[in-house]
Amino acid sequence: MSQRKKILHVVGARPNFMKIAPVMRAIERAGFADHMLVHTGQHYDFSMSDVFFTDLGMPRPDIHLGVGSGSHAEQTAKVMVEFEKVCLEQKPDIVVVAGDVNSTMACAIDCAKLRIPCAHVEAGLRSFDLDMPEEVNRIVTDRLCEILLTPSPDGDENLRREGTPEEWIFRVGNVMIDTLLAHLPKAKATGSPAGLGVEPGCYAVLTLHRPSNVDDPRVLGGLLDALAQIQRVLPIVFPVHPRTRKRFEEFGFGPRVAAMKALTLCEPLGYLDFLGLTSQSKLILTDSGGLQEESTALGIPCLTLRENTERPITVTQGTNTVVGRDPAAIVSEAKRAIDGHGKAGRTPELWDGKASERIARVLRDWHRR
Ligand code: UD1
Repeated sequence: MSQRKKILHVVGARPNFMKIAPVMRAIERAGFADHMLVHTGQHYDFSMSDVFFTDLGMPRPDIHLGVGSGSHAEQTAKVMVEFEKVCLEQKPDIVVVAGDVNSTMACAIDCAKLRIPCAHVEAGLRSFDLDMPEEVNRIVTDRLCEILLTPSPDGDENLRREGTPEEWIFRVGNVMIDTLLAHLPKAKATGSPAGLGVEPGCYAVLTLHRPSNVDDPRVLGGLLDALAQIQRVLPIVFPVHPRTRKRFEEFGFGPRVAAMKALTLCEPLGYLDFLGLTSQSKLILTDSGGLQEESTALGIPCLTLRENTERPITVTQGTNTVVGRDPAAIVSEAKRAIDGHGKAGRTPELWDGKASERIARVLRDWHRR
C-alpha cells in the first residue's frame, strides 16, 4: 500500500512564488500528500514578497526562516543552517525547490547532505556564464537534485551533457506559464497601465536588476543613454528593484533619470498589477529571466539587455532578442519593434498551463531507486 507523502516546498525570493503556487495547488488537488511551505526570507519587503501571497492566493508560509539580505556566502549559509533544522524536525519525503536564487541552492545542499530527495522546478537551464551567481546556483542545484523538472528540451540536453541519469529528468513544461494563464483575465482587469499614466498598447515596460547591469556605473550609465532615446519615441514604465534604486542614489544618477520625461518610475509591482502592465505593453526591455518567458507566452516582443540567456527557447521559438548592453544596438532594436517589426514567435510545447499537474504526477509516482 502506498503511503501518504510529506512534501516541503521552499520559496525565498520574488521569482519563486509564481513557480511554487501552482505546484502546491496541483498537489492539493491530486490529494496524495501533506505539504508545508517554508519561506527563507531572502526577500522580505511587502512589494518583493507579501503581495505575491495575496495576488496568487497562496497559503501563508508555515515556517519563516527570516534570513534577509547579505553577501552570497552569508545568505546561503544562513539558509542552510536554518533549513537543516526544519528538515531534521519535519523529516519530509521530498523537498521542492524552484528557480536559481541563493535559497534554492542552499536548500538543495541541505537535502543532499541529509539524503532527502529534492525536486528542482525549472531544472536544466544554463547561460554558460559563471559571472552570473544564478548560473552557479543552477549547476549546484541540478547536480544535487534527483528529480529534475525541466521546462524545455534544451534543459534536458544540458542535464544529459553533464552526465545526469536519464531517469532523473522529467520534462514537465513551464510552470510559470500556468500562473500567467490562470491570472491573465484578473491582471488585465486591474487597470494598472492607466494607474501609471499610460495607454494600453502604447508603452514599453522595463525591468533592470542584474548585478552585471546595475552595479557598474559605466554599464548602468550606458543603459540610461539608450533609455533616454527610446522614451522619446515610446513612453516607458519602470518598476524599480531595490538593488537598482540604491545604485541610482549611489552613482548620483537621480537627475539623469528625472530628466527623462516619458520614463515613469514606480515601486516594484505585485503579480497582478505587473502582469496587467506587461500583457498590454508594446515592448518589454529586461534583464530578468522570467520576463523573457512571460513575454514569449504573451506574444510581446522582448529585448533582453544581457549578453546571453539561459532560456534560449524564448529566442529560437519565442519573441525574445538578446540584444546585449550596447546602447546603439538597444536603441536600433527597440525602434524596429516599435515600428511593428518585432518578433512574433510562438509558444513552446508544454507551456500550456498544465505543467503543475504534470509535476504533481511525477511527485506522486516517484520513489528512490
Ligand atoms: C535575487 C536573485 C536573482 C533574482 C532576483 C529577483 C540571487 C543570487 N539572486 O536577486 O536571481 O532575479 O532576486 O528579484 O539569489 N532588497 C531589499 N528588499 C528585499 C530584498 C532585497 O531592499 O525584499 C535589497 C537588499 O539591499 C539586498 C539587495 O536588494 O541586499 C539584493 O537582494 P538579493 O536577494 O541579494 O538579490 P537580488 O538582486 O534581489
